[in-house]
Amino acid sequence: MCGIVGYIGNQEAVPVLLNGLAKLEYRGYDSAGISVYNDGICTIKAKGRLAMLSDKINGEGAVSSHMGIGHTRWATHGAPSDRNSHPHNSQSGKISVVHNGIIENYMELKAFLGENGYHFVSETDTEVVSQLFDFYYDGDPVGTLRKVIGKIRGAYALGIMCSDHPDSLLAVRKDSPLLVGLSKDGNYIASDIPALLEYTRDYYLLDDNEIVFLTKEGVTLYDLDGNQIQKDIFHVTWDIDAAEKGGYDYFMMKEIMEQPEALRKTLLPRMTEDGIRLEALSLTEEEIKNFNRIHIVACGSAWHAGIVGRYVMEEVSRIPVEVDIASEFRYRNPILSKNDLCIIISQSGETADTLAALREAKKQGVKVLSIVNVVGSSIARESDDVLYTWAGPEIAVATTKGYTTQLSMLYLVALHFAKVRGTIEEERLQECLQELRLLPKKTAEVLKLDGKMAELAKKYAQSEDVFIIGRGLDYAAAMEASLKLKEISYIHSEAYAAGELKHGTISLIEEGTLVIAIATQERLFEKLVSNVKEVKARGAKVIAITTQGGCAMEQVADEVIYLPKAADIFTSSYNVLPMQLFAYHTAVERGCDVDKPRNLAKSVTVE
Ligand code: G6P
Repeated sequence: MCGIVGYIGNQEAVPVLLNGLAKLEYRGYDSAGISVYNDGICTIKAKGRLAMLSDKINGEGAVSSHMGIGHTRWATHGAPSDRNSHPHNSQSGKISVVHNGIIENYMELKAFLGENGYHFVSETDTEVVSQLFDFYYDGDPVGTLRKVIGKIRGAYALGIMCSDHPDSLLAVRKDSPLLVGLSKDGNYIASDIPALLEYTRDYYLLDDNEIVFLTKEGVTLYDLDGNQIQKDIFHVTWDIDAAEKGGYDYFMMKEIMEQPEALRKTLLPRMTEDGIRLEALSLTEEEIKNFNRIHIVACGSAWHAGIVGRYVMEEVSRIPVEVDIASEFRYRNPILSKNDLCIIISQSGETADTLAALREAKKQGVKVLSIVNVVGSSIARESDDVLYTWAGPEIAVATTKGYTTQLSMLYLVALHFAKVRGTIEEERLQECLQELRLLPKKTAEVLKLDGKMAELAKKYAQSEDVFIIGRGLDYAAAMEASLKLKEISYIHSEAYAAGELKHGTISLIEEGTLVIAIATQERLFEKLVSNVKEVKARGAKVIAITTQGGCAMEQVADEVIYLPKAADIFTSSYNVLPMQLFAYHTAVERGCDVDKPRNLAKSVTVE
């Protein structure tokens, strides 16, 4: 995700901002910029590394200032470019804004501001914030910010400068991290602690919609009604390494815990009160109605997401779907025809085999829709349509939030297609949309299983083989769970369609073999109970993952993990979460390098 730094105090602002941004570089970014005050707002931005920004600043001569805001951008709305980099200024030049998050209603606000004479220069959602602030500005910065907050919807961490008030900075956050650093030399804002550790260890950790007014002498906090509030100071004892990981031991755990936020960012901007809005989709209703077949192509976890996608797509939009591993697809001389659609899934957007598969599909004249996390990546650029997952940068090699946001995007596409093709009843559609709205919150609930999964990992970490079984969507989850376990803990693990067990694999079950049974599909629940009985009879130890109400499992399994109830097609978003946690804790127990497993790369750009 993007990084924010802001400073007001006795020191020169430019080095403080650049230094703070440099400390956030590990999170990944594609462009950077700063605004400082020097007889007016001076904004300098550059696509590329921070060194490019520094060169540009030096090229324009030293800018002396004692306050400013800075940003490293990881593109969401609009490709990486100087123009789309932050800060974004109002057309009057009086307001400058840095922003992390997504303003969900930016299109409406842009239209409203356009009618009021505002012109936009970037493709970003952020620019509406500076223009809106300018529109409502009445001389009172805190009051104006309250009005702006009343109009914007979505997730935001904002740092704001107003040239009428060169002795103060403003900030606020909602569903996107922001903290305030306090020191004798001045005061700071930042999206993450590493940016400021060199300057201070004393922080205010902001709650949603707390407004911050910073001067060099002090910080005042207000609630949304404009009442002054008091907060405790949080003293940080972490070193820089722990701070980069948000206090977690590994990026993987940080990213697991970021899933509710990532899902919120991926889903909510695409949902209206009663429907789905996929603005980036250029496919016409006619094309969607005429699709005969969909080919989903991907590698690794993205392929597993594709398998879930097939179930969901076929269930709600009634289009036959084939799912292929990209390295197989590209060499199997696939038969594609005019009314087919190819959906490419890739977190990095750079996987060589997936890119080659995309080119094969295009060569055969088929439209390509990609689901990608990295804006401006090769796959994104070469596709006809791109839907970004907006999960933020993923640093751990084993994907977690990348995978679950891919699933959520597939739900949106499937439901959109179903609506256009008339294959879903309005009532069921509304139920599905409601389930999607609850997904981030329910994900946060499920992640509370962390302690329990750590206990189980401790107990079973020395297993030599683990079999993970499930049926239907639970089989797809089993594949992803097995890959996670293999990737980071190096335990031999196999995923099996539970009904297929008796055709061979059951011969490998002996006294003490660990079997994990995933049973969240209501209509297949009893079948899974029978499969668990079969392996128990051969001496297996069984951990079962099921939904609330699946008590019959308690009589057969050794341990039962309960997930919240959800309509069958959405269980895939939950059943994988305890397994991410289990794989993580097992790897930690075994002393493995969780974030950088042996022999693996985050982005496989070679065949
Ligand atoms: C690598 C990663 C996996 C990922 C796969 C596909 O193998 O380790 O976590 O699922 O590549 O990557 P992509 O970036 O295309 O989703």
